[in-house]
Amino acid sequence: MMKAENIFKSLVDRSSGKTCELLHDVSREIKAGEAVALMGGSGSGKSTLARILLRLLSCDSGKIYFQGQDITKVTGKDLSVFRRNVQFISQRPESFLDPRQTLGCSLKEAFTVFNLSYDEDKIKAMLDLVKLNAELLQRYPHQVSGGEIQRICLVRALLLEPKLLILDEPTSMLDISVQAQILHLLRDIREEKHLAYLFITHDKQLAEWLCDRVLHIEQGQLK
Ligand SMILES: Nc1ncnc2c1ncn2[C@@H]1O[C@H](COP(=O)(O)OP(=O)(O)O)[C@@H](O)[C@H]1O
Ligand SMILES: [Mg+2]
Repeated sequence: MMKAENIFKSLVDRSSGKTCELLHDVSREIKAGEAVALMGGSGSGKSTLARILLRLLSCDSGKIYFQGQDITKVTGKDLSVFRRNVQFISQRPESFLDPRQTLGCSLKEAFTVFNLSYDEDKIKAMLDLVKLNAELLQRYPHQVSGGEIQRICLVRALLLEPKLLILDEPTSMLDISVQAQILHLLRDIREEKHLAYLFITHDKQLAEWLCDRVLHIEQGQLK
């Protein structure tokens, strides 16, 4: 379903003027409904690869295909369809929410951005799925916990009925007990929605618990 083909990415380090290679010849495929873990140490290129796959960052060379379509350079409607299909859950979910807006408004916006009509029942169903009370929607991001924000981000993503979630260390900023709740939730969601996951982590046990297979990245290369 999503395929990376010979992805290279380098950056020039501003302070030293040296070119550093962040990704070297990355090629892999994730099949529909498959959960794949991406494991590697800090600085190995996991987030860079995630951002390239999400079209948030361009690559120097190589191609990315989604459902058979080369999306490496698509724009306009095709890019919008891609963005709806592939949702991102980040390590710092609060950065996705406008601090001046209630959580309810942020969810509403998800429909507007993608030209979809507002569907309150769908929001209710997704809140149930992530075990959140609808009262929370009146609140602002600073009035809820980190775990609740991550659940809202999941609701926002799931409203769009994506095919793939790219999750970049989604629980690393949370307390241990909340981490466990979110991880169980992610497992349940996947079972119910038959979603594909690219789950970035540096926890081997967790990778094996949640995912069908594990990819290892070292210094920008998949092993
Ligand atoms: N914008 C940037 N400018 C310079 N170096 C960067 C930039 N983004 C990432 N890097 C470097 O690229 C490497 C990979 O980063 P990243 O993909 O964030 O790693 P990971 O997510 O695996 O910890 C790191 O050495 C990081 O310092
Ligand atoms: Mg990272």
